[in-house]
Amino acid sequence: MKLILLGPPGAGKGTQAKLLAKKESIPHISTGDILREQMQKDSPLGVKVRQLVKNGELVPDNIVLEVVANRLSAADAHKGFILDGFPRTLKQADGLNEALKTLNTAIDLVIYFNTSADVSIQRLCGRRVCKKCGANFHITNMPPKKEGLCDFCQGELYLRDDDKKDTVQRRLQVYQEQTAALIDYYRKNGKLREVSGDLEADKVNAELQKLFSREKLANPALKNGE
Ligand code: AP5
Repeated sequence: MKLILLGPPGAGKGTQAKLLAKKESIPHISTGDILREQMQKDSPLGVKVRQLVKNGELVPDNIVLEVVANRLSAADAHKGFILDGFPRTLKQADGLNEALKTLNTAIDLVIYFNTSADVSIQRLCGRRVCKKCGANFHITNMPPKKEGLCDFCQGELYLRDDDKKDTVQRRLQVYQEQTAALIDYYRKNGKLREVSGDLEADKVNAELQKLFSREKLANPALKNGE
């Protein structure tokens, strides 16, 4: 299955992508995670994008497109993948089509997480991420067992620079200005499906499972991981 998860910052794309990737045995490709990894390593790419990410601005299309095209050509993505946080502009969507054409494939479905701004803000300002393993928690919605410590590796939890309230507001504005147009783009080509991102995480997951069962019935190729 070749999926795109689309929605505003804090819609829960990353949370659901991890669950779906495990269930479907396909890689979760998050451009945000890839960029943060590069920033952590202080690589030339990481240094180039750091200030933009910190300020909640988008990284230039050509940079992200190159990163994604490389990742999609890896062997583990041949059977399927989940794109999380990409594409984010119409230019990225067109670039993705081109990259997939050269790989002789195409996107099956785009899942739009319809989420209100208040919910996004509450989730992002309360998110805490593990410094060591990258696991996500939320101070009230999904609290760790021990305050400030990761349940899985005991690493220290921190607030992402771009999860500070002013930057979150900017990210939502950037989403409206540059990304929201993709909803119509994918609706017009018949690929768009919608779930409510405002629901609790297990309810969103149940909605997604129902949706995939329907889609696999209608299109058996999806079932076989083609
Ligand atoms: P990125 O990391 O992609 O950030 P984002 O899209 O803003 O998404 P988030 O990770 O913030 O939210 P999410 O929807 O994944 O929510 P999550 O599941 O984590 O991008 C960061 C930056 O990188 C961008 O601003 C840009 O600078 C750059 N970038 C990345 N991709 C780019 C691209 N394609 N082009 C250009 N620049 C790019 O959940 C959030 C919180 O809520 C968590 O604490 C979680 O525990 C909690 N939660 C999740 N679901 C629920 C639920 N249903 N109910 C209650 N709580 C929930």
